[in-house]
Amino acid sequence: MTDYCDIIEWRGDGRTPRDVLLAEIADVKGLYTGGSSMVGRIDEELLNHAPHLKVISNVSVGYNNFDVEVMKKRNVIGTNTPHVLDETVADLAFALILATARRITELDRFIKDGSWKPTTNYHEIYGKDVHSTTLGIIGMGRIGEAIARRAKFGFNMDVLYYNRNRKPEAEEKYGAEYCDLTSLLTRSDYIVLMTPLTPETFQIIGEKEFKMMKKSAVFINVSRGQTVDEQALIRALQNGEIYGAGLDVFETEPVNPHNPLLQMSNVVAVPHIGSATARTEAAMAMRAAENLVAVLRGKEPIDPVIK
Ligand code: DGY
Repeated sequence: MTDYCDIIEWRGDGRTPRDVLLAEIADVKGLYTGGSSMVGRIDEELLNHAPHLKVISNVSVGYNNFDVEVMKKRNVIGTNTPHVLDETVADLAFALILATARRITELDRFIKDGSWKPTTNYHEIYGKDVHSTTLGIIGMGRIGEAIARRAKFGFNMDVLYYNRNRKPEAEEKYGAEYCDLTSLLTRSDYIVLMTPLTPETFQIIGEKEFKMMKKSAVFINVSRGQTVDEQALIRALQNGEIYGAGLDVFETEPVNPHNPLLQMSNVVAVPHIGSATARTEAAMAMRAAENLVAVLRGKEPIDPVIK
């Protein structure tokens, strides 16, 4: 990189403070970022401070931190890192399905705090089967397909999906059945929300949708926190409208430690770790660097999301 670029790097903990970012970005041509958790939203104010900016390269597949219209208007190219994380995120979705269904984190605490006694009533620690049940996938992109493959061939599940467009290949390969959202919500034992966050998918799951789910349903969110009405999710869990939830993402991140979701034994919560394995994060970092350098060299990036 240093052959081609001078680099200004934020080496502090967590997100780059906005004032530092706005001050440092004045002469910058490319911005390399882990997404909204690293620099916040790419908006008009930021672009006003960056008159030379040509490209913003996200080290993530999601790019909901981009204000697409403003970037287009300013001819700033946006890129992301698809493909290289698909299988890793699908693994996490399945980890959450299994952990929630079999109450893994709850029972891990149970055994470690010495609650397993000769008198333990096994009925009280029963979970739910995952194999041979029905999985509904909302958002059948590449990651959705990787989840469907695991479900079909690993767990003998019937797969339903709801998506903007039909995916004939997924239907053929995994026997996935395309259906409307109501049908998916009412028929599925496990529901995985995997859609990108867009104005259309903002709070796509709310009170009405939770009420449609089976009381025995497990809800998994590996997309973005804002695709769900979080207060409605809390109420649905408090009122026993669903069995449990596995959550990688939250309305606000880092999640407020007092969020009621974190107090619930039927919620498995992890801190937005969908792609967080060393191998996958390295692949994403490399891909994002290639995207950035390509634009700075006047070439087409591999993964443009805004041209
Ligand atoms: C992404 O890359 O957008 C995902 O959130 C990874 O977890």
